[in-house]
Amino acid sequence: MIDKINTIKQEIKTFIINNEEDLEAFRLEFLSRNGKIQKMFGLMGSVPNEQKARVGKAMNEVKNIAQSVFDEAKTSLESDSKKVFGALDDITLPVEPAYTGSYHPLTQALDEIKQIFLRLGFNIADGPELEDDFHNFTALNFPPDHPARDMQDTFFVRKSDDPDIDDLVLRTHTSPVQIRLMKEQQPPVRSIMPGRVFRNEAVTAKSYFQFNQVEGLYVDKNVTLGELIETLVMFARLMYGSDVKYRVRPSFFPFTEPSLEMDIWWESDKGGQWLEILGAGMVDPNVFKAVDVDPETYTGFAFGMGVDRIAMLRYGIDDIRLLYDNDIRFLQQFKS
Ligand code: PHE
Repeated sequence: MIDKINTIKQEIKTFIINNEEDLEAFRLEFLSRNGKIQKMFGLMGSVPNEQKARVGKAMNEVKNIAQSVFDEAKTSLESDSKKVFGALDDITLPVEPAYTGSYHPLTQALDEIKQIFLRLGFNIADGPELEDDFHNFTALNFPPDHPARDMQDTFFVRKSDDPDIDDLVLRTHTSPVQIRLMKEQQPPVRSIMPGRVFRNEAVTAKSYFQFNQVEGLYVDKNVTLGELIETLVMFARLMYGSDVKYRVRPSFFPFTEPSLEMDIWWESDKGGQWLEILGAGMVDPNVFKAVDVDPETYTGFAFGMGVDRIAMLRYGIDDIRLLYDNDIRFLQQFKS
């Protein structure tokens, strides 16, 4: 009897289960009602009493082995079928392309602007979006109560009647970073200062209540207007190609003298037009005085360019609001 049990045990251990059919064959052979194990238990009656305990134990052991072989094979077949190709009938079918993101057009334009000025020997600085009146206006030579302060519709965060407490504003331009930089660092200074600015303007295709600027400041001995214009023209050529059509015309800012603006010619389906991309000028001596730089020793130029305008021109975007809607159909067109 014990020999018979050992034979079954051997058969169980050598049975090969590779697939569902094998598994079912194993079950029929050993575990089913007509299987070898049930039959084996059926022979118990003919076992002499004194051997019953030993034989019974051996039979139970074989039964347990058969059950665990079956359970293990079953689990392993089930997990196999879940593996990569399990659910696929045809592994040559094209896969669904993985979605990849892209840089926002403003980020791409800003990166290009940074690259150009890094090449020209500028470094990058930044300052806070929440400014005090001193940095945003006073130090930049906006006289108190001068209408020039209304030139840029300001979001006031704190307006105070107490002359000792400065108003707080969302910066209306990146020019206050010039002040912060020159207070920290004696000339020479040659930096660009990118950042977000805010103006309380009606939202239209051409204007928004927030946009981005890159401020530039170059202060040293003998910096000239010619160098300013040369730098801006170089920028326009590197940004838009050497055949870019540009013009430079006189303008006014309280913090530069003389002041100018640069326009780029933009052709679209609706015809061509000049678009202003930046304001610039020679740093006003009053600005130098506000930051303790000697205007007799140093001169400098500054510029402030609109990143949104530059991106719109660069990529042919005709509505600034598209830059802030974050519509994926729009953004996906700027994969590089
Ligand atoms: N801050 C000005 C503006 O926002 C631009 C500017 C910067 C002009 C630096 C001259 C010099 O319109």
